[in-house]
Amino acid sequence: MAKNNKNSGYGYGYGYNGGNNSMFSVQEAYKAIRTNLILSVIKDGCKKIVITSSNPHEGKSTTAVNVAISLSQAFKRVLIIDCDLRKARVHKALGVAGEPGLTNILSGLSDADESVQPTKYQNLYCLPAGLFAPNPAEMLASERTAALIASLEQSFDYIIFDTPPINVVSDALPLIKLSDGVVFIVRSKVTVYSEFEKALDALEFIDARLIGVIVNGDDGSEEGGRRKRYGGYGGYGGYGNSNPRRSDNE
Ligand SMILES: Nc1ncnc2c1ncn2[C@@H]1O[C@H](COP(=O)(O)OP(=O)(O)OP(=O)(O)O)[C@@H](O)[C@H]1O
Ligand SMILES: [Mg+2]
Repeated sequence: MAKNNKNSGYGYGYGYNGGNNSMFSVQEAYKAIRTNLILSVIKDGCKKIVITSSNPHEGKSTTAVNVAISLSQAFKRVLIIDCDLRKARVHKALGVAGEPGLTNILSGLSDADESVQPTKYQNLYCLPAGLFAPNPAEMLASERTAALIASLEQSFDYIIFDTPPINVVSDALPLIKLSDGVVFIVRSKVTVYSEFEKALDALEFIDARLIGVIVNGDDGSEEGGRRKRYGGYGGYGGYGNSNPRRSDNE
């Protein structure tokens, strides 16, 4: 799909600015997602949101970065953590160093102060994945990770977690358990319903709170498009209420 050269890469201007969709509509779509997120997670203190999907390449990192940027325009302190230790992408998208990062902290090589980096977006901070780790699932499930997040949440209004796909590896599950909710990405015309259903079963099994489903790459037009549409938001109390639909019917 064509990308806007001026905005290639991630960023608030990141997007798929081809077809009939202007960058304005992409930005508006992320603002709508932000509003829904804000309204869906009501609590004092830091709100922790996991972005995941069933399989690779469905748009998790793209969405995580753009949602974080959008939130940073409304809140003072937003942190995005790259929890995909196998395919770290967030630091590149935000133009920050790849390490020190999460794995450096977990292995005792660095501390959070030196690993959490400011970005070119005011109010947005990034904790990159860090050094390559041979045991990502184990690391993310460790008490050290839970303790680190408990400490980081004292300093932020929102923490967005970019994670690997849940039908492929189990890395995201412990993060989902300690989060306030999951935003699930479905790639239009790519994600098949059986995979979506399998992922929903995994989420249900761990009592995850699914707060929304984003259909990525669909503008609802005949031609197909690139706007992000938010479906099923407001599904408080679990994904039974989130009205999952086949992405290829969108
Ligand atoms: N709506 C879209 N239209 C066109 N390209 C897209 C769209 N969403 C994502 N992409 C592209 O698809 C690729 C995968 O996107 P992204 O890295 O966000 O997915 P991911 O789910 O994080 O993948 P992975 O599971 O490998 O981490 C990237 O090259 C991205 O630029
Ligand atoms: Mg990714």
